[in-house]
Amino acid sequence: MKSLQASLLICISQTWAAPAPQASSSAVDPVFGPPGASGSLRPSPDLVGYDSSNHVSKSPSTEIPPDEFELAPGQSDDADLGLFIDLSKVKNPQPIRGGTTGPTDPGPRTEAYDRLNSDLFIPPGTDSGDVANAKWPFALSHNRHGLAGAGWARNQNQDQLPIATAMAGVDMRLSPNAYRELHWHKSAEWALMLNGSARIAAVNEDGQNFIDDVTEGDVWFFPAGIPHSIQAFENGCEFLLVFSDGAFSEENTFLITELIDRTPETVVAKNFRTSLDTFKNAPDKQLWIFPGTPAPEDIEKQNQTGPAGLIPKENTYSFHWSEQQPYRVPGGSIKILDPETFPIASGFSAALVTVEPGAMREMHWHTTSDEWTYFIQGQARLTVYQAPSSSRTFDFSAGDVGYVPVPNAHYLENTGNETLIFLEVLRASRYADISVNQWLGITPKQVVKDHLKVEDAFLDTLPKVKPFIVPGNKDLLTTNFTGSPL
Ligand SMILES: *[C@@H]1O[C@H](CO)[C@@H](O)[C@H](O)[C@H]1NC(C)=O
Ligand SMILES: *[C@@H]1O[C@H](CO)[C@@H](O)[C@H](O)[C@H]1NC(C)=O
Ligand SMILES: *[C@@H]1O[C@H](CO)[C@@H](O)[C@H](O)[C@H]1NC(C)=O
Ligand SMILES: *[C@@H]1O[C@H](CO)[C@@H](O)[C@H](O)[C@H]1NC(C)=O
Repeated sequence: MKSLQASLLICISQTWAAPAPQASSSAVDPVFGPPGASGSLRPSPDLVGYDSSNHVSKSPSTEIPPDEFELAPGQSDDADLGLFIDLSKVKNPQPIRGGTTGPTDPGPRTEAYDRLNSDLFIPPGTDSGDVANAKWPFALSHNRHGLAGAGWARNQNQDQLPIATAMAGVDMRLSPNAYRELHWHKSAEWALMLNGSARIAAVNEDGQNFIDDVTEGDVWFFPAGIPHSIQAFENGCEFLLVFSDGAFSEENTFLITELIDRTPETVVAKNFRTSLDTFKNAPDKQLWIFPGTPAPEDIEKQNQTGPAGLIPKENTYSFHWSEQQPYRVPGGSIKILDPETFPIASGFSAALVTVEPGAMREMHWHTTSDEWTYFIQGQARLTVYQAPSSSRTFDFSAGDVGYVPVPNAHYLENTGNETLIFLEVLRASRYADISVNQWLGITPKQVVKDHLKVEDAFLDTLPKVKPFIVPGNKDLLTTNFTGSPL
């Protein structure tokens, strides 16, 4: 073995021994390069700093002639209007706002990012100061694949979005009949089924069991440490998991296979009072996401209730949220699920919001919790206002995560042509927000007038009831929203 390694080394050094070309003026250490290598790895020291004999040659113009790019509607309007600039279709989009000629971006660049993030590329004139990044597309997360095409999962945590300290998210896919392995974790898990359906099961500390079937729009919650499993039905499923810790990693869950593999075999046999042979076919590495045999349609066939019985209804781990009719208002709808109706999910409150094209989830903030947001359909923008005088606007589309730290103000405006659907998750025992409309609407008129110098006629239009969503014009270039009072 040793002599083989030695002869290999000799062989490699002979092939690669040709001295690499060196910087012309001074000796550099010999460098080994592949055949055909040329040029120098390091420059001549003569190139340092100021030297009157060096003249930078004039580069060609970096200006982009007006006929080589297009402006999107609204780009030349006053920057403080902050109109949404739709860069999706314009030729060679440029970071121009409030003018027609500049500044331009000659590159390097990847246009697709600019088109998807026009409010970062061409911020509204009102954006100011520094605000931590509030956006993470799951599409930029590593997608870990399960066994034999059984599914995948991608994680968003503080590694991707450092401000997201209170919650982390996972987008998980299970192919038809596939399982997410029996497991548990240190964080609590709040989940929304996004597509398809699954059977979920768990056991609590008192030996009570839980089993249920969940479909698109339904929610489940597993408290920290509670062991559970998820199995897709024959049509597969995709779901969203939100964890009670910004550092949660889907790579770091406790798994039944690893528990057996990491325990001395005699201890395992003694624990179950069985022979060493019992587990001889158990997998020698974790299953995580893996193909399964189809679950029987009849849930009773899988109902393994012990003497302690079922987990009582008031503590059940699932909630058939899909069956709730939402609260509808002009411009959209909202439905809220929090521990007032789903008590086991203590500390988790959510709102599922729909916003019609042109409409907006009104300006608001949350009083007790950061907001973790997931975009299910459509596109939106959101400005984070942070005390005392910073703001930044971010654009989102389906599959993105947003995060707004408490108590920063924000809104969510539908910037697309289809209904916007998103989920707001709070680490709060009750879903609550402060509506700016309502705040000013039930503050003494004189006080509002002395601050903002507005007309009495406007004060009369302020709502006393929280609108949640405000309607708007589908044409996003509209600047007059005067209409019937909310
Ligand atoms: C669910 O998946 C099907 C199949 O891809 C797709 O047609 C449908 O639009 C998805 N539903 C949602 C709500 O995304
Ligand atoms: C499971 O079995 C228990 C005890 O027999 C019963 O009360 C319960 O309704 C069954 N069904 C489900 C879905 O748990
Ligand atoms: C919305 O529809 C209009 C008119 O069809 C189109 O010009 C515009 O590009 C669309 N916007 C988006 C974001 O798809
Ligand atoms: C805005 O629209 C309203 C209702 O159509 C109209 O009465 C008002 O004159 C408009 N205001 C401006 C400044 O155009």
